[in-house]
Amino acid sequence: MGDHLIRFGIIGAVGRGGSFTRSLTANPGASITALCDIRAERLEASAAELEVEHTFADAEAMLDSGVIDAVVVGTPMQFHASQSAMALERNIHVLSEVTAGVSVEECHSLVLAARRSSARYMMAENYIYQKSMVLVTELARRGLFGELYYAEGAYIHELKELNERTPWRRRWQTGVNGCTYPTHSLGPVLQWFAGERVTAVCAVGTGHHYRDPRGDCYEMEDSVTMTCRLTSGALASIRVDMLSDRPHNMGHHVLQGTDGSFESADGFRGVPKIWLRSRSEKPQWEALEELEEEFLPDFWKRPPAEALKAGHGGGDYWQVQDFVTAILEDREPPIGIDEAMDLTLPGLVSQASIAQGSTWVAVPDSRNWV
Ligand SMILES: NC(=O)c1ccc[n+]([C@@H]2O[C@H](COP(=O)([O-])OP(=O)(O)OC[C@H]3O[C@@H](n4cnc5c(N)ncnc54)[C@H](O)[C@@H]3O)[C@@H](O)[C@H]2O)c1
Repeated sequence: MGDHLIRFGIIGAVGRGGSFTRSLTANPGASITALCDIRAERLEASAAELEVEHTFADAEAMLDSGVIDAVVVGTPMQFHASQSAMALERNIHVLSEVTAGVSVEECHSLVLAARRSSARYMMAENYIYQKSMVLVTELARRGLFGELYYAEGAYIHELKELNERTPWRRRWQTGVNGCTYPTHSLGPVLQWFAGERVTAVCAVGTGHHYRDPRGDCYEMEDSVTMTCRLTSGALASIRVDMLSDRPHNMGHHVLQGTDGSFESADGFRGVPKIWLRSRSEKPQWEALEELEEEFLPDFWKRPPAEALKAGHGGGDYWQVQDFVTAILEDREPPIGIDEAMDLTLPGLVSQASIAQGSTWVAVPDSRNWV
């Protein structure tokens, strides 16, 4: 394996990027050879702890250094598209944090860079790998929900204080009106509706009930919901709320088909629950867990200790595994460039919808972009 080790660099290594180190270190196909961050002191401490030889304050310098084959882009959202494109132009593989970009225009440039590159691009949408999401995806794949026609996803994460510590959030998440951070909610939904994408969105907001410490109104309304029309005509309702005073619930999900229904646990005392006609003619809930033995895909049946320790319900581990495997086997990763656009563009288009008084706005299909 030694000859095939993929040499990784991490941009934003002292922030979220740092949370990739455990899964990379645990992967026999990967090694970390370089770290990049603008916070020099913490970067050096982190490099010493991880025994990483090369450190950089500048992302481009790391990409030009010749010491990496792949890069994790773990910087704030507004850097993802440009830094990813910069890597792809150098044929360096990219695992980018969500979202893929902050405007339709920069997403377009990123897609073109990915098409020109011989390197792989994957967006690190980790929620799709959580055990309950993987199980529901498998049940949907087998047709056990019948014809799917409705889903919900919500990301409810009050972060007014975090906004102040990471000011980029105040600009790019709560500083824009629309569903600015939808991928964790939409990710599992589009796994269930395999082969479909969001063709149009209509976004509405609740108005403003909070102010930042300077007394300014947040540009984003407290709770924004975008109704998504999918290719088949099905509907998905995606809610992003980063401002309402309340406990977190980052993983609310619902799925409805003609033969079954699923509702997530929603974080407090409940358990994920499901009804499938094939198991009970009478509509009644059973715990989703009851179906694990028969239907849970193998990789989640016997997870390694690293997966169980990894953040976001194991998602942080499995996404790295899939990315490394895709590179080694020279195939498209699960959330490649077009799937990344399927998850990112609806949220960007929702900003136009809400600005136009909540009209329906078509979502471009990146597969047609030239
Ligand atoms: N998938 C998830 O579950 C998840 C969880 C948390 C954060 N995120 C995403 O990860 C990204 C980072 O979030 P965060 O909370 O770590 O933010 P952060 O501000 O805490 O950390 C970002 C890091 O990037 C560094 N940085 C900023 N600009 C840089 C540049 N030009 N070059 C090199 N380094 C630079 C900063 O110094 C900092 O260490 C965001 O896009 C966020 O949405 C995803």
